[in-house]
Amino acid sequence: MSNTWFVTGTSRGLGLELVRQLLAQGHNVAATSRSAERLAAALGDVDRTRLLPIELDLTDERAVAAAVAATADRFGGLDVVVNNAGYGFLGAVEETSDAEVRRMFEVQVFGVWNVLRAVLPGMRAARRGHIVNVSSVLGLTTFPGWGLYSAGKFALEGLTGSLAAEVAEFGIRVTLVEPGYTRTDFLRPVSLGLPAATADGYGAIREMTTAHLAMPGTQLGDPAKVVAAIIAVASNAASPLHQVLGSDSYGLAQARLESLRSDVEAGRELALTTDVSPA
Ligand SMILES: NC(=O)c1ccc[n+]([C@@H]2O[C@H](COP(=O)([O-])OP(=O)(O)OC[C@H]3O[C@@H](n4cnc5c(N)ncnc54)[C@H](OP(=O)(O)O)[C@@H]3O)[C@@H](O)[C@H]2O)c1
Repeated sequence: MSNTWFVTGTSRGLGLELVRQLLAQGHNVAATSRSAERLAAALGDVDRTRLLPIELDLTDERAVAAAVAATADRFGGLDVVVNNAGYGFLGAVEETSDAEVRRMFEVQVFGVWNVLRAVLPGMRAARRGHIVNVSSVLGLTTFPGWGLYSAGKFALEGLTGSLAAEVAEFGIRVTLVEPGYTRTDFLRPVSLGLPAATADGYGAIREMTTAHLAMPGTQLGDPAKVVAAIIAVASNAASPLHQVLGSDSYGLAQARLESLRSDVEAGRELALTTDVSPA
């Protein structure tokens, strides 16, 4: 069955691969990018009959609403939304400036929220739809150096969990996909953010940064398979809220479940001391 998809961040990586696979499968695709020119160049000679390319700044709420309206005008509705746009940032919490924090949240939180406000009225009226928010295993667990990126993805996880429970009664399904390391541009200088100013004493994070910048092309995750999994999630009525993707992601998610359990249990005695005493 042919559906209409709205995908953000499509000139590279998972977004670009998703657009390619969806068009090849005969779906309608509204593909947003900060640069229509870059998107056109990246798509090459792909058949564009079912494509609506949209140059969009996700932080501009009115422009996002117009993009969603244009999608509905062109294709008569909208079935699946993939909030994919995002980027990594590698630096210590202390080194991360206010501007760097705000820039991350503009994309990973406020931008997603703009898309959600724009698409939900139509989906509620139609009593159907699927929202896929691209998070990360770093939205489930944390590592030194990834504080800002995890902060954005944890925020995305929080709002998405609430959203899923709010819109289920309208027939709208919501999924978080949680990839591990995947072979896209994510760890290339064109994508990966680094702090403008570093602080002494974070040598381990500098070493990690060097190691990560050397990693492109060696990550475990295959973008074509990650995208196929995202398409599978959207066509599966029983997909879980948290769809982990990749063996690295699965292992880290399991470890997080264990460590969270033992951490909560370690504080059990004190936890149970703070209720109001019975009269
Ligand atoms: N690759 C991984 O290892 C990995 C792992 C876990 C999660 N993820 C998540 O997967 C999603 C896609 O990333 P990717 O791996 O495909 O990386 P990518 O190859 O660097 O592509 C990132 C896409 O996001 C958009 N984007 C980047 N910075 C942006 C900004 N400041 N404002 C708006 N859009 C921006 C770009 O879209 P335009 O330039 O077209 O606007 C680009 O197409 C992200 O949400 C990322 O956090 C990736």
